[in-house]
Amino acid sequence: MAEFQMDDLMFRPGLMKGQRVLITGGGTGLGKVMAEACLMLGAEVYIWGRRGNVIEDAAKELMDAHGGKVVGRACDIRVPEAIHEAMDEIWADGGALTGLVNNAAGNFISRTEDLSARGFDAISNIVFRGSFFVTLDAGKRWLAEGKRASVVSILTTWVWNGGPFTVPSAMSKAGLNVMTQSLAVEWGNRGIRFNAIAPGPFPTEGMSARLNPGGQNRMPEAADPLVPLNRNGEMRELANLAVYLLDPGSAYVNGQTIAIDGGAHLQGGGGFARLAGWGDKEWEEARNAIRATNEKDRAQRTV
Ligand code: HXC
Ligand code: NAP
Repeated sequence: MAEFQMDDLMFRPGLMKGQRVLITGGGTGLGKVMAEACLMLGAEVYIWGRRGNVIEDAAKELMDAHGGKVVGRACDIRVPEAIHEAMDEIWADGGALTGLVNNAAGNFISRTEDLSARGFDAISNIVFRGSFFVTLDAGKRWLAEGKRASVVSILTTWVWNGGPFTVPSAMSKAGLNVMTQSLAVEWGNRGIRFNAIAPGPFPTEGMSARLNPGGQNRMPEAADPLVPLNRNGEMRELANLAVYLLDPGSAYVNGQTIAIDGGAHLQGGGGFARLAGWGDKEWEEARNAIRATNEKDRAQRTV
């Protein structure tokens, strides 16, 4: 189901006409919401993910709802060669991108002492290395062609106050935060802007299955006492911020990471500090529930 009506967005119709935006992980959750907003505002949108059926269904669903152009493609951002090939296709399809959203991610809650090297890699290879590889591949093209572009990375507020029980994610997102600041300076004078969004709780299927398996950590559905505004984020609120940062209307904003969390990170300790009370039983249950989700998703992967 499409998420938005035009009235949900704070921008005039046609704002993004002529823009071409790639959103990694754009077939589900927040990525799909941002894809929908860009499409509705007139942009051509490219979405990547590992599950070919999910990404193709999302592209079709969005075009059925709003018309326009969404190209869905199976691409695993852990593989630089796959990124290069998929990026070649985008450039051949209509020229340079004007925007990139580094949104794809992997995550799960775990006691850090329970992590293996492969467990750490499963997350950091997507978030830390994969997002950099995508940025680098697009960046080289923009620099060579003298094109302007806006890069928006989706982080978490853990980049400021840490992410207990989600350490590989917090470390990887913190790396992207520094990438944002570094490249804002290194490439800013050649027209490529870098900003980031640090969302608070925006319940999505992918997030809930890995961070709230079986509803065990009692992440509230509606009113969250850990959020000063006492609620979760609304998808249109996130979409409005992403469009603002992608559009030349924000051309003087560069190197910033903007929290959209109702003030939560200012109020509470980092991330999942509240899980400190869990024992072996709760961790075992959580791990089994996350494994079942991962197995189901893996069976659908086409790359
Ligand atoms: C400990 C675990 C584990 C768990 C997996 N592993 N789950 N370790 N606790 N719960 C370990 C495995 O044992 C294995 O190591 C290694 O990780 C790889 O596991 P696979 O299942 O083979 O991984 P893979 O199929 O590559 O899947 C990657 C994934 C998966 C990251 C594990 O979750 C995924 O594909 N996620 C994509 C979608 C996603 O995560 N979305 C949530 C984003 S939400 P060993 O050594 O045993 O072989 C988000 C929100 C943040 O980021 C902010 C919220 C406020
Ligand atoms: P999600 O629906 O699980 O989104 C993750 C997406 O990334 C999926 O579409 C997944 O598709 C894709 N992906 C994962 N690994 C990939 C790879 N190697 N190559 C290509 N695509 C890959 O979860 P979400 O909640 O929308 O999260 C989106 C972003 O927001 C993430 O960066 C997350 O950290 C961030 N965030 C979310 C929240 C929240 O409350 N929801 C809060 C803070 C930050 P495949 O599995 O098909 O590849």
